Amino acid sequence: MAETKPQIEILFASADIAKRNEELAEEIAATLGSDILVIAVLKGSFVFAADLIRALHHAGVHPQIDFMALSSYGDKSISSGTVVITRDIVDTVKGRKVLLIDDILESGRTMDFATKELMARGAKTVKTCLMLDKKGKRINEFEADFVGFDCPDLFVIGYGLDYAHYYRELPYIGYIVEN
Ligand code: IMP
Ligand code: MG
Repeated sequence: MAETKPQIEILFASADIAKRNEELAEEIAATLGSDILVIAVLKGSFVFAADLIRALHHAGVHPQIDFMALSSYGDKSISSGTVVITRDIVDTVKGRKVLLIDDILESGRTMDFATKELMARGAKTVKTCLMLDKKGKRINEFEADFVGFDCPDLFVIGYGLDYAHYYRELPYIGYIVEN
């Protein structure tokens, strides 16, 4: 039987993402300056982070880069769901200006946890940069410092975002159209 290809509706085209990354990098450079520690949250932000750090270079930023993997356990719809670190950073954050990068802000639980954790470890500041923001889904007061695009309340894929570990390679962000 021939494989059926799902129809994907594009929300954010690669050229629009590239343009937005350059703007974000300028905003970040103006706010944080050149000497920053970038922490990319795995896995979802790896494509965005890879492009954003090169845009940061164009904006005159000279960052160090580290990675952290976070997992959310428990009922996604309740605020008591806990976040755990499944892969920690190697660098120390003490006294550093940290830029935390993630793919998408939904409940706000992941970023709220990570920001507090890094501040508790002695970071000088922790600013967050999210490629997408699903504002309607927040369960806390968390607000990102830098946002690529506001995202409609749809399950989105591509540009690092997955559905069952597939679709991360898409150069654009879109959603699967159910037929
Ligand atoms: P939250 O803000 O703690 O709810 O976490 C958001 C996380 O859920 C993101 O880092 C993604 O891993 C995942 N996620 C949320 N919405 C989507 C989506 O539309 N597509 C793919 N992953 C998503
Ligand atoms: Mg994630």
